Amino acid sequence: MKTGYVELARAQQERWQAAYEQHPSLHGAGASAAARWTAKLFGAAGIDDVLELGAGQGRDAFYLARQGFSVHATDFSESALHRLRLDAQREGLDDRVTAALHDVRDPLPPADATVGAVYANVLLNMAFSRTELRTLVNEIRRVLRPGGLFVYTVWSTDDSRFGKCAEIGDGLYAKDGFAGRFFDLDLVHELADRWELGGADPYEENGRRLWRVTQAKPAPLISS
Ligand SMILES: C[S@@+](CC[C@H](N)C(=O)[O-])C[C@H]1O[C@@H](n2cnc3c(N)ncnc32)[C@H](O)[C@@H]1O
Repeated sequence: MKTGYVELARAQQERWQAAYEQHPSLHGAGASAAARWTAKLFGAAGIDDVLELGAGQGRDAFYLARQGFSVHATDFSESALHRLRLDAQREGLDDRVTAALHDVRDPLPPADATVGAVYANVLLNMAFSRTELRTLVNEIRRVLRPGGLFVYTVWSTDDSRFGKCAEIGDGLYAKDGFAGRFFDLDLVHELADRWELGGADPYEENGRRLWRVTQAKPAPLISS
């Protein structure tokens, strides 16, 4: 399955590239429900910098920037990031939104404990093995400052499409060339190992059932 995953990753990157080349506004211009909720959480926690993973064409990055956060947006699709950079300039948000090409299977670029918050909307349910998912959340914990927050959303096993698309192995499903995984609560809890799990909240958006998960990097106990 190892070689299979490399091939799958390459095919997924090409699939996303093609989708973004065909659709200049693939996910629409409005912020996701998760981004609107997350901005309030991060604001209340006094966070000012956000690393967004799988940012696509940047609809949520722009929303977070307009709420006052500085956002570093990454994705493995250059065509999505090209659109994001053009729109950031046009909207006058390029001082608050930076972008870089990055595949989350690779180590995250920031140094240890330098990031206030990480946000990933509908990224972790893409075509990752469970080992890749565990490695990614470990990387996220590494780059976060102690007490830093991680909010992610994923497709839920309660979604009506679960079990209806073609299964391609290791719990991954595929449709129209896109592959992904539906999350149950066990997987959410597994990925929260060595984190403080703040919440796993079910919600619906565009007829899809998802989880919104909030977890914090534990801050070390200060002994007096
Ligand atoms: C469902 S879209 C969500 C985009 C964006 N978060 C939004 O809500 O508008 C998933 C995104 O994950 C990106 N992606 C998938 N696999 C990735 C990987 N291995 N590394 C980085 N980005 C990836 C895709 O290019 C796509 O932009």
